[in-house]
Formats: sequence, structure tokens, C-alpha cells
Amino acid sequence: MSFSHAHLLGIEPLAPSEITTVLDLADQYVDLNRRPEKHAEALQGLTQINMFFEASTRTQASFEIAGQRLGADVMNMAMQASSLKKGETLIDTAMTLNAMHPDLLVVRHPHSGAVDLLAQKVNCAVLNAGDGRHEHPTQALLDALTIRRAKGRLHRLNIAICGDIAHSRVARSNILLLGKMENRVRLIGPPTLMPAGIRDFGVEVFDDMAEGLRGADVVMMLRLQRERMDGGFIPSEREYYFRYGLDAEKLAFAAPEAIVMHPGPMNRGVEIDGELADDINRSVIQEQVEMGVAVRMAAMDLLARNLRAPAEGVMV
Ligand code: NCD
Repeated sequence: MSFSHAHLLGIEPLAPSEITTVLDLADQYVDLNRRPEKHAEALQGLTQINMFFEASTRTQASFEIAGQRLGADVMNMAMQASSLKKGETLIDTAMTLNAMHPDLLVVRHPHSGAVDLLAQKVNCAVLNAGDGRHEHPTQALLDALTIRRAKGRLHRLNIAICGDIAHSRVARSNILLLGKMENRVRLIGPPTLMPAGIRDFGVEVFDDMAEGLRGADVVMMLRLQRERMDGGFIPSEREYYFRYGLDAEKLAFAAPEAIVMHPGPMNRGVEIDGELADDINRSVIQEQVEMGVAVRMAAMDLLARNLRAPAEGVMV
């Protein structure tokens, strides 16, 4: 097993074999999580602190459950109540926590690059739980595991990522991961929601769902990230749903066995039809949540192994 990193800050530095290592270990944790007795000891004695500077439901809950199942002492910093309110900087807060000797720090922050910066200042393993519109590596890994289990492979698939690409760290991490594993990635969305220079990432770009979805094996929908928009990116939600909202009719353009994904939280009736999202024959949205816990267990387990006995050539 090889995973030669001290932190998990993004998909960018990971080799394809390291992605496979995380997913293989996560498969074992899926089995453990389906048993009534779910405890393992990979993080026994270690302290995990979750610092979420942005709202989160599933990611935070999932990291918390993952740590507890592996025996860590898990603490959620109540960021709303912390000294940040009193003007303390991110780095001061991190240094204060660092002095309490945590082993794993899970961080979500609204600014791209903030988590990387923090990782340079502390001496524990840092996991990026989403930084601005930059990366969200555990989301891409859980999406990859979901795809691999549903399709039986993670290469040479046609994968369509649809919607608000410009503001999405989920899209960015997925584009990197799916590209490294040699899939064909197509992005579909209005030109106003497509980041400049995105074609350099080796993707195809469409602004029409019928064209972009043709023959897709996987259809990944994204939320309109209104909190990151400062004005008129779309004419109206109604119009957006009409052109880009996924319903059974548009899904018919994809391959017959295509699966439907969404990282959550979903806006039913904006980017996806509620009935389709709940259709267990097409939608794997609940599986994504299940895989999230297993992938986070695997990622923290691998980082903890490097903490306890640094592997040859661990990159800090
Ligand atoms: C995503 C995020 O926070 O980037 N959600 C998640 O982690 N499940 C996507 C989103 O907020 O739309």
C-alpha cells in the first residue's frame, strides 16, 4: 500500500496508484460500516479536531462519524463561538489548537488556499474539507468510489458534470481525479458558469444538455452556489431548470444505464427533479453519502499510518 503524503489537501498531488489505495481501503470500511459492530482501532489514542468555517451538514457529520468509528477522540470546534469572532486570525486559531497536540485537523474554509496555508503552520496531518472554489478532495474520492462500485471500473467512462462549474470545488477535484484515472469528462452548463481556461484541463465543454449528455455513463449534477455569486449569472431559476435541470426527459439522452449523482445539498426543482433524485434505480445520491464515511475513514487511516511510522519519502 502506498500513500506518501503527510496531508490531504487536494487531488492534484495524488498519483493514480494512491487514489486506488484510498479506494481499496475504503471498500473494506464500507463492509465494516454495514456491520452492527462498527468499531476499529486505526485512530486509537489520536485526537481529531474539526474546524468548519463554512456551513456543512454531511461533510462534517461524516468526518465526525469516521473518526469515532476508528477510535479517535473527536472534537468539533464551534467556529461561530470561537475567538475568530473577536478578530483572531485563522493562523492564530490554528496555532492555539496546534499547541494542544491534535493529530488530525479537518478544515473547511471559504477562501481558496487557506487550508494549504494552515497546513504549513501546524505539525499534524491536515485534511481539506473544502476550501473556497479550489478543492474538496474527499468529495471527489467518495464520488470515485461510488462510480467504481456502480460501474465496476473507474477508467474509460464518459462522465458529465453539469451546472455551476465556476464556483464548484467539487467539480474541480472531480475533473482532476477523473482525468488522472483516464476517463472522458464533459462539462455542461451556461457559459456564465464555466470558468475561463477550463479546456486546459482536458475536458469537453457544452452549453446544451442534449448534446453534452449523449451516451454519458455518469451524470453528476451540481448545486447553484448562490453564496459565491455576486449578481446575474443566470436569468431565473425557472429558466435554469428548463435548460439545465436534470429530469427523466433529459436523462434519456445519456446511456441507458447512466447513474445520477449529486454531492448535496440539493435544490429540488432547480438543478434536479425531486422524483429523479429519489429514484433508486437511477440515483446513487444516498450511496454517495454512505461512501463518504468510508472514504474519510480510509484517508484518515492512511495519514495516521504516516504519522505513526513515516513511510519512505513522505511529502510534507
Ligand atoms: C459541496 C461543498 O460544500 O462544496 N457539498 C458537500 O460537501 N457535500 C457542494 C455544495 O455545497 O454545493
